[in-house]
Amino acid sequence: MTDPITISDGENGVRLIVIDRPQKKNALTGAMYDAMRGALEEADASAAIRAVVFAGQPGVFSAGNDLADFLGQARNGFSDAPALRFIRQLARTDTPMVAAVDGIAVGIGATLTLHCDLVYASPVARLRMPFVELGLVPEAASSYLLPLRVGRLKATELLLLSETLDADAAHALGLVNAVMPADMVVEHALAQAARLAALPQGALSASRRLIRGDRERVEAALEAEAKAFDAQLQSPESQQRLQAFLSRAKPA
Ligand code: COA
Repeated sequence: MTDPITISDGENGVRLIVIDRPQKKNALTGAMYDAMRGALEEADASAAIRAVVFAGQPGVFSAGNDLADFLGQARNGFSDAPALRFIRQLARTDTPMVAAVDGIAVGIGATLTLHCDLVYASPVARLRMPFVELGLVPEAASSYLLPLRVGRLKATELLLLSETLDADAAHALGLVNAVMPADMVVEHALAQAARLAALPQGALSASRRLIRGDRERVEAALEAEAKAFDAQLQSPESQQRLQAFLSRAKPA
């Protein structure tokens, strides 16, 4: 059986993190979040790793958090969940991050791209953030980052009404750098990451901090979301929605 997260390092300083659980549409478990968080921490600590690329499987980037795990977190709390620790790491990672999105990107599969420096997508990429539909609230600082990127009205359609963004719409909104044939997406993301990795590192880090400029606000947003998320996870409405997905019954 293959490891659901595979990590490989190129000699050009690019680390490729591949989500590899296609039978569950690349839904992310605690162990997978921990593996990705560790991969980012190592990248920051290593002089040899100078850029990171996230990729999924053909036609599926990630269906987001494993919904069965959400039910477990309702009992144990979200405040120290592997998902939240991964999200905190996303916000503080200094190494440039690039996403190669082919197919569905749901929940954190979509919101992690908001933390990436460059995002490339295939024509079948579909971004969806159905937190509220599931009785939950936005995470990964998306309640702050998405309105900033696309404006509050569009963010409301995406975050409250859970509308799906196709690749062209995501590109038009500036959430994706370019749309290209599926078999080119990972290759292109790796090539762009290699360009970042080859830049003078001091200038790259300083410029990246200037471009992003809002780490404290991002961190404040994700912590505020985490509190609300924790409260909602305990609620009957989210419990019912999550159970409904898992048993494929329609919510009453
Ligand atoms: N958590 C756990 N399992 C998931 C999952 C998730 N987030 N997303 C998909 N799966 C599982 C399904 O339960 C199914 O498992 P099974 O074969 O053992 O029954 C398998 O992955 C295939 O999913 P399926 O729904 O049959 O595929 P699809 O192509 O019809 O639909 C999605 C794909 C992603 C649109 C759909 O699975 C979905 O909506 N998933 C939930 C996404 C979500 O809400 N994520 C959390 C956001 S906060």
